[in-house]
Amino acid sequence: MKLNINGRDMEVADAVGERKLINFLRDDLDLTGAKNACDIGACGACTILVDDAPSKICIKRVKDIAGHRVLTIEGMAAPDGILHPLQQAFVELGAIQCGFCTPGMILVAHAFLLREPNATREQIRKAINGNLCRCTGYQQIIDAIEQAAVHYRSPKAQETPVARAASPALQP
Ligand code: FES
Ligand code: FES
Repeated sequence: MKLNINGRDMEVADAVGERKLINFLRDDLDLTGAKNACDIGACGACTILVDDAPSKICIKRVKDIAGHRVLTIEGMAAPDGILHPLQQAFVELGAIQCGFCTPGMILVAHAFLLREPNATREQIRKAINGNLCRCTGYQQIIDAIEQAAVHYRSPKAQETPVARAASPALQP
């Protein structure tokens, strides 16, 4: 089956389709940004984007992304390592504590701001309510998303909705 992950096409045997998606990304492709925290689709730590929509992949199989466009946190930064403005805002505003929830938070916020670049703080709060931060650093996370929204109001944001970079390590 054909997969597209962080802008890179790849093909895997049909049998691989039955593997848990989070294990495939982390163990086979070394894309370890998505975390398996609850394993029941409750916390959001494993979130990636599938066709620009958040997906909690601890409850998904590889076959669920066949023919779809996937973005993981590893695809957010530019190929030269320059962080995406949303990632940069998380760093600048101290929105990362242990970092466990951060990849999922960033991807959910990214998908949301692409659709709603003029979102209010309350709308941002609701947008991330499926992603739990055990460090409870929610204020800084919301501050960072609010600051980064400025980037999404520019035409440049729409030029790079997903897959700014292709991970170099995508051979299963
Ligand atoms: S690890 Fe998937 S939702 Fe918690
Ligand atoms: S920063 Fe630790 S879980 Fe959110």
